[in-house]
Amino acid sequence: MNVVCGRASQHLGSKIADEMEVDLVKVSYKTFPDGEQYLKILDSLDDEVVVVQSITSDSEFVNLLLLLDAVDSSKITTVIPYMGYSRQDRRFEVGEPISARAIAKPISKYSNEVITIDIHNMKVKEYFDCDFTNLMAFDHMARELDLENPIVIAPDEGAQDRARSVAEIRGWEHDHLVKTRKSGEEVEITPKQIDVDGRSVLIVDDIIATGGTMSQAISMLKKQGAKEVYVGATHPVLAGNAIQKLYSAGCTDIICTDTIEKSVSKVSVAPIIAENLK
Ligand code: R5P
Repeated sequence: MNVVCGRASQHLGSKIADEMEVDLVKVSYKTFPDGEQYLKILDSLDDEVVVVQSITSDSEFVNLLLLLDAVDSSKITTVIPYMGYSRQDRRFEVGEPISARAIAKPISKYSNEVITIDIHNMKVKEYFDCDFTNLMAFDHMARELDLENPIVIAPDEGAQDRARSVAEIRGWEHDHLVKTRKSGEEVEITPKQIDVDGRSVLIVDDIIATGGTMSQAISMLKKQGAKEVYVGATHPVLAGNAIQKLYSAGCTDIICTDTIEKSVSKVSVAPIIAENLK
């Protein structure tokens, strides 16, 4: 078995190869003047290949498809640590696409198995026409967090299971806030009755995209007297000025995983992926 990584997951891909003690395949990438991508696999491949690539943009999705087409092996396991478009997992309004399905279909054609990490909704599984495994990074993150007895808070009901799971592993308290999304970028958070006065708080979510959800939760908790507010998420999309927004709101630290390779990617998901592949 060997590991091939796409442009968006070069660090994580090499860590997975390292953990598994298998070869990391060399790939060269270039972009033509018209913007089209080109890549070439430079080493020979084994019968079993693991392709690692997060879909962080349209361009990285194309990069993954080109890579899958170039890999000519009998068994391909495609690891998509962060799957962009997974939040559009149904037709919310007439005329919309099911974007997660549109992304899943072509990947399935090349893959024997797809592995994701903390996928936004397990409904996505039904869109892959191949084996599908979702690994939970939150349990792993919980063990790695070096915090003094914080209250773990989910920014909305949908993230409650994650907060509970982190809290239970560490024996911490947990709760959740009530969120109303007003538009793509605007979120209103109605305070719930939680006594955070003088306490450290850890807010957990799967994705930080614009930082709107988190920054409002941070501001609210700070107003209620929280001493420190840490932010923990699996996928640091962190679009635009999201990091600045979180710190301006009073965030103490941001702790995320390397499903997307950013400065806040302090916990690696390589061990849980490697463990699953062995
Ligand atoms: C939504 O359901 C997700 O779990 C996150 O809460 C959301 O993606 C965060 O987005 P943003 O950072 O733009 O508020």
